[in-house]
Amino acid sequence: MSKPKNISPDTLLAQASHYIDEQTGALMPSIQPSTTYGRDQNYELLGDYIYARNHNPTYDQVEKVMAELEGGADTLIFASGQAAITAVFETVEHGRHIVAPSIMYHGAQAWMRRLAEKRGIKLTLFDATEPDGLANAVRQGQTDVVWIETLLNPTWDVIDIQKAAQIAHDAGAILGVDATVTPPVTLRALSLGADLVFHSATKYLNGHSDVLGGVLITAKKDDRWQEIYDVRTLVGGVMGPFEAWLLLRGMRTLGIRCERAFASAAKIASHFENHPKIERVLYPGLQSHPGHTLAARQMTAGFGGMLSFLVNGDAAMAKAMIAKLKVFIAATSLGGVESLVEHRLSVEGPESLVPENLIRISIGIENVDDLIGDLQQALDHV
Ligand SMILES: Cc1ncc(COP(=O)(O)O)c(C=O)c1O
Repeated sequence: MSKPKNISPDTLLAQASHYIDEQTGALMPSIQPSTTYGRDQNYELLGDYIYARNHNPTYDQVEKVMAELEGGADTLIFASGQAAITAVFETVEHGRHIVAPSIMYHGAQAWMRRLAEKRGIKLTLFDATEPDGLANAVRQGQTDVVWIETLLNPTWDVIDIQKAAQIAHDAGAILGVDATVTPPVTLRALSLGADLVFHSATKYLNGHSDVLGGVLITAKKDDRWQEIYDVRTLVGGVMGPFEAWLLLRGMRTLGIRCERAFASAAKIASHFENHPKIERVLYPGLQSHPGHTLAARQMTAGFGGMLSFLVNGDAAMAKAMIAKLKVFIAATSLGGVESLVEHRLSVEGPESLVPENLIRISIGIENVDDLIGDLQQALDHV
């Protein structure tokens, strides 16, 4: 049975791309725990699989759904987001140049710095708030990978993906986009010119804070994509079959979780925008956000569930406010059904450029008035 064309992301997700097991009629795929696969009398493999470090049938439907959602040619899932990101950078040869924003997910940047220190790869970090920051950072013929985030973590500044793709391609590089905080229900970076899209599946895709995973989607199946696949097999950063199954299960509700979290985040951002104890609310859905117009162009179904407060005060004041919260949970990570807060500078460490008065907030699917009430009472008590 073929699916209708132009199906919406929500429908695609809810039905995991209209999945029905061909042999049993089951609507849920089974979990395949086998690490190895048999051969016939001619020593030919009996099926499409050889060994679990190469591939696992439980990955198939996750990879299919993600490729369809992002409009990509292929998908690979990994044991963690970092395993996926490092696989991309394993394809960069000694002496080549890579480019990334100065404020971004700190773990990925830590890996890039390590490559620059130990592996002879040149790294330029650019200020994404400067109009020509990226154009000045690339080196014609030398830059191999430009890596950006759709919304920069944790200031939620917006990068023009089309423009970044043009700059990267003109320099002879590929553009990789970390779209962790903008799932494909609202943004599709491949359609804006990116070559690779990445998600930490640990966040919105799974959405229940119980699976660690990474996903890469490619615009085309080329030599670099084959190399990324080889790195996954050789380094062995593969996801377990149970985690892959859980991930597909979590993805089924991505549409409705995002709808709720994004609407609540927008309401919370507006509610606290002019609060006397808050210097600034950083949220791309606010008209006051410098990236608002661009975000509105790139994001088709809401501005995301992440925001940050710059409190009127220092790190001590930010931490004091966090300590007063009773509904929000103080913990790192994002994109789960439960709302989280963190003092980002404490998590990233002294080298971080994140302001000391920044509180990063991940909005979950709780009742929005409970969340507003909790933030209000915490601000009243500091
Ligand atoms: C934006 C972003 N990219 C990448 C990662 C790394 O993903 P993982 O923790 O799944 O390895 C994270 C994790 O926090 C993230 O927030």
